[in-house]
Amino acid sequence: MASSALLSFLLLLSLSGILAQNGGQLPFNLVVVNNQPNSKPMMYSAHAPPGGVLIGAMTKLAKATNSHFSFTSSKNVDYGAFLVSVNGLSGNDQDRTYWELLIKGANKVLITADVGISCYIPQANETVILNYTKW
Ligand SMILES: *[C@@H]1O[C@H](CO)[C@@H](O)[C@H](O)[C@H]1NC(C)=O
Ligand SMILES: *[C@@H]1O[C@H](CO)[C@@H](O)[C@H](O)[C@H]1NC(C)=O
Repeated sequence: MASSALLSFLLLLSLSGILAQNGGQLPFNLVVVNNQPNSKPMMYSAHAPPGGVLIGAMTKLAKATNSHFSFTSSKNVDYGAFLVSVNGLSGNDQDRTYWELLIKGANKVLITADVGISCYIPQANETVILNYTKW
């Protein structure tokens, strides 16, 4: 009992430390790789509150003035929102193209996110990559 109270106190303390440090927002990089000829990856600075999901940070980024970032998504009853288009480029079934969600954490290892944009919780300073690819 006492130790769990201590634990939640410590948790609160470290959380409020994070909140004070970043104004409640954790910064992360959002990179869009569209794999089109003559096009370079686009990098954006995004923010999410601790525990906030990726789609929220993407929505706020898209609404920001001059962000040059836009996306559309569709809802799946089982998996939540999934990306349909990013910066005007859509995945489609005919070409078997889609936007895959990749994560590069502090250890620089690139992994495929095992959840979609409405479930993924960005961590501070990591890089979230939206990669236009084929299935
Ligand atoms: C994120 O980067 C900032 C600025 O470099 C740093 O102050 C902070 O400690 C980092 N946070 C984490 C969790 O790595
Ligand atoms: C990103 O997409 C390109 C094009 O389909 C693919 O070649 C590449 O392997 C993908 N990147 C990763 C890390 O999966």
